Amino acid sequence: MPVSTRPIEAVRWDGRRLTVLDQTRLPLEERWLTLTGAQDTAEAIRRLAVRGAPNIGIAAAYGLAMELSAGPSLGTLEDACELLVRARPTAVNLAWAVAKVRAAALGAGPSMLAGAARAEAQRIHADEDAASTAIAALGADVLDTARTLLTHCNSGALATGGRGSALAIAIELAERHEGVSVIACETRPLLQGARLTAWELARLGVPFELVVDGAAAGLLRRGVADAVVVGCDRVAANGDAVNKVGTYGHALAAQAAGVPFVVAGPTSTIDAATPDGDAIEIEERDPDEVLRIGATVVAPPGTPVRNPAFDVTPAALITALVTERGVARPVSPATIEALLGSEGA
Ligand code: MRU
Repeated sequence: MPVSTRPIEAVRWDGRRLTVLDQTRLPLEERWLTLTGAQDTAEAIRRLAVRGAPNIGIAAAYGLAMELSAGPSLGTLEDACELLVRARPTAVNLAWAVAKVRAAALGAGPSMLAGAARAEAQRIHADEDAASTAIAALGADVLDTARTLLTHCNSGALATGGRGSALAIAIELAERHEGVSVIACETRPLLQGARLTAWELARLGVPFELVVDGAAAGLLRRGVADAVVVGCDRVAANGDAVNKVGTYGHALAAQAAGVPFVVAGPTSTIDAATPDGDAIEIEERDPDEVLRIGATVVAPPGTPVRNPAFDVTPAALITALVTERGVARPVSPATIEALLGSEGA
């Protein structure tokens, strides 16, 4: 089915400033925010105005570069790095991108800090765009016979460079074949599936249905979906994958139903320094996100809340990990290491 070629963008760089589509306003309003330094970029990341593992890396890289343009000193560099990395703990892309920009700036020397940082941020952005294209093609090969794909959260253009990771695979499949459709889980508490994935798929003309998260296991058991495809926020050296809370349940349900469970993401999301999923810090967010839906309070006053933003899916439940450098299948320490060893291949 022909899908719209009008690209969706979440971050724009004009050479001096970064503008981001404020994702807290979608789908009701398309409002762009202008960011000028590390402080406002970190705040936009913290409150999910810009979100998704690869995109928070891209935004943080530009945030650091803008801060250095305003005050090119080693002190500024270190303070801004710390501020940005602390904005969100789970997605490794954030710390990875900040470390890359920091290294480029330090490598260029004191008089060239800002220019080197800007160039590195642009390189990261371009590389993530290219990674998305490769992931879409490789993932669509892996899932070539699947026609109904269940997904969770938002792993499209709003979350990554280019057209996305997991969602880009579904979009590519819809371009290749008639009859492809997506089942999008709404993704409580912040409804990235309902607000963002639905918005992207509607804009692109890809057929989809929105379901509540609790419907997914039953639909998988009934054979309604041919595969589950999700993004990731950090993949450990053993292949355990952290993704939006609720993902692990979909993986268990997929295994019980005999349905492939595919994880997609750029290699910037693989953290070889972390041995397994249990070693990954899971962000705990504001209880208010659970107590409300939008402005509406949905629980009695004083209700105790636990609000982990992510969960760990063990490698054993993952059929394949699709990256821009290739596909790990099965997902194991050896296949992950092979992917990382193939840099530039
Ligand atoms: O908290 P968010 O919205 O930043 O969560 C990240 C995600 O969008 C998902 O977990 C996604 O699958 C990984 S990023 C492509």
